[in-house]
Amino acid sequence: MSTIQDASRLYSKFDPRTGTIDAAPRLERRLADLRGCFHDAQAYERALEQDNPLVYSVASVEPADGSGDLHCGLGVLQPGLIGNEYFLTKGHLHTWRDAAEIYICLSGEGAMLLEDEASPGSRLVPMQANSIVYVPGHTAHRTINTGNEPLVYLGVYPATAGHDYQAISRRNFQSVVVSRDGHPCLLPRT
Ligand code: PA5
Ligand code: MN
Repeated sequence: MSTIQDASRLYSKFDPRTGTIDAAPRLERRLADLRGCFHDAQAYERALEQDNPLVYSVASVEPADGSGDLHCGLGVLQPGLIGNEYFLTKGHLHTWRDAAEIYICLSGEGAMLLEDEASPGSRLVPMQANSIVYVPGHTAHRTINTGNEPLVYLGVYPATAGHDYQAISRRNFQSVVVSRDGHPCLLPRT
């Protein structure tokens, strides 16, 4: 068998329980990093007075950054509520707007909130183990954990996509996903 000269570019092992990928950086977002994301600002401040829990982590493997290359993130989004709104990711558009992304859900129960930048309205796509969600280009995307256990997924996207958080931090998503009688419900943000 020939030796793999640069194995780190070709092969990675990940652990879905810890949200780590061998030798890859891992970013953590805690509740304090999500100011402005939740619709109930008072519930957010009350929760933050009690604790600053880990909401999600993303470990990223970025083997090369040429125009044809791919990057991959292992996301672990914890279960929880702020008021009646489920734990969520910040959400973003890709800096290179044409860039699409594939999410492969490994475990947990959740949903992907999608909003096309050019047309009003939201779409909520289910995420559960063994499902694939396609995020088209020009589409803001936010992951939401609607279950009782961590939502674990891999996101694969062009290396040159980039993460643009600014548009979302200015106007947020048009819709919120809240728990009603224990079930997820998509409502317009008021
Ligand atoms: O690249 C992606 O779309 C994902 O890996 C996200 O970065 C991950 O879900 C975390 O979300 P956000 O980047 O919006 O904080
Ligand atoms: Mn993305």
